[in-house]
Amino acid sequence: MSKTYTITAALPYTNGPIHIGHLAGVYVPADIYARYLRIMGNDVVYICGSDEHGVPITIKAKKENKTPQEIVDRYHQNIKNSFSEFGISFDNYSRTSAKIHHDTASEFFLKLLEKNSFEELTSEQFYDEEEEQFLPDRFLIGTCPKCGFEESYGDQCEKCGTSHNPRDLINPRSSITGNKPSLRTTKHWYLKLDKFQGFLEKWILEDNKGVWKSNVYGQCKSWLDDGLKPRAVTRDLDWGVPVPVKDSNGKVLYVWFDAPIGYISSTKEWAIDNKQNWEKYWKDDNTELIHFIGKDNIVFHCIIFPAMLKAHGDFIIPKNVPANEFLNLEGSKISTSKNWAVWLPEFLNDFPGKQDVLRYVLTINAPENKDNDFTWKDFQNRNNGELVAILGNFINRVVVLTKKYYESYIPANNELLDKDKNVLDLVNHSINKVEESLSNFKFRDACSEFMNIARIGNKYLADEEPWKIIKENPERVKTVIFISLHISSVLAIVSEPFIPFTSKKIKNILNFKDEINWTWEGLKKKDFLINENHKINEPELLFNRIEDSEIQLQIDKLHKKN
Ligand code: MF3
Ligand code: ZN
Repeated sequence: MSKTYTITAALPYTNGPIHIGHLAGVYVPADIYARYLRIMGNDVVYICGSDEHGVPITIKAKKENKTPQEIVDRYHQNIKNSFSEFGISFDNYSRTSAKIHHDTASEFFLKLLEKNSFEELTSEQFYDEEEEQFLPDRFLIGTCPKCGFEESYGDQCEKCGTSHNPRDLINPRSSITGNKPSLRTTKHWYLKLDKFQGFLEKWILEDNKGVWKSNVYGQCKSWLDDGLKPRAVTRDLDWGVPVPVKDSNGKVLYVWFDAPIGYISSTKEWAIDNKQNWEKYWKDDNTELIHFIGKDNIVFHCIIFPAMLKAHGDFIIPKNVPANEFLNLEGSKISTSKNWAVWLPEFLNDFPGKQDVLRYVLTINAPENKDNDFTWKDFQNRNNGELVAILGNFINRVVVLTKKYYESYIPANNELLDKDKNVLDLVNHSINKVEESLSNFKFRDACSEFMNIARIGNKYLADEEPWKIIKENPERVKTVIFISLHISSVLAIVSEPFIPFTSKKIKNILNFKDEINWTWEGLKKKDFLINENHKINEPELLFNRIEDSEIQLQIDKLHKKN
């Protein structure tokens, strides 16, 4: 049954390129899910965009003597290109400096104001006299009261992950000048989160118990058990969406207030461009809203944004938030400042055409339930031992044999033996398992089960040895090749969410025509999607081996840069 889905992927901060951690944690799983839902015939909008506000962007601009707009213009394009190169199939990739976003976020704020969801509070906040500015969030550094880390930020400690009140930092200083800050009074708008405690407790702790992933549920529970308090949603900064009320000069919406609204403005932008109705994707109770994020974003997507949506009143709230843990690299935490990362533009440069290899490795080894490690050795092993040796090898053997024995025309099968039927049962069983895993956000399991289909095919060929019996029993060989081609067609379809470029190649090799309805549903409806006498195309290698020297180069590069 076809349904409507709004799939969002966390808007990346626009102060640097994208690395493999982003891809593994958010964009690849979200893409697999969106592609899967589309193949199943659903109405899907897959939304993202650049998160262009916030202090880190302002700081970067200051350092480089540029305007924040210049910084985000540069990286918006860079990030957008990377996503498209890796086949991330967003329906729209917008940006939060766009007018439509400023308008949408302002309207949202005003609606909450009208609904009495804020309280205005005046308090003392840190101020840098030399720079003549307040020091919200990352503009302030000091010692973490919890773990003693000396470079903790005003809003959050990157070492232990605790979020705190800037006033609790020990030995606070300005991150711009290093000066000891003074205190000044200033007025801000606070979202009355405490008013939503009851609603959130019921929705998360009762309704979604056992439904949401346990890592997500656990974090929400601990926030709720601590008791929610009003939270400031404005800042004294000059970069962001201006607070849309009188006498608010020099104040903007807090980046974590405006950014999630970016999902809505990006949907609106798409709807305008494509003559669609955006409200269907945000205001219809039958629509499923799913947020893909990393674990550091859980509180914003499970507690604060739903409270905002609820306060507004017109919107649906998320059905699920399948947040991932973090991906490490060669045993250490990925770090932008230490340049301990694999950046997508560099990967593309060093491994042109190997986007699917990365997608596959990041999926089969995704940090789904715990932090996980990416190593170049594993990357090489998965490529050589799985993509080349199992999937690539199977498709290639079948296509080469079809050419050799039948001049590339699909032969007619003869009566199926029990062993043929068994193989078909195994394949069907795997298809169902892939489907079930995907619908439960178990992308690792889904991916290995998909590879299993190629394993089944390889074993079938190895057991039947058509090349040994072609002389004495050519009729039997026709059946073996027919079944193998069927399995290839299954692989062409089932691989699409995971490795879309390869899926396309397999479809080309098998000479899929659009008018033939080769869909997942079709797979399940009919016994076979291929027809005898259909001519397939020339064999073409799907994957190439990666040599030790190529891997060593990457390892050296990583260590030299560090
Ligand atoms: N920019 C944030 C990050 O990279 C994510 C923002 S998600 C959104 O952690 F909901 F705010 F859009
Ligand atoms: Zn700390």
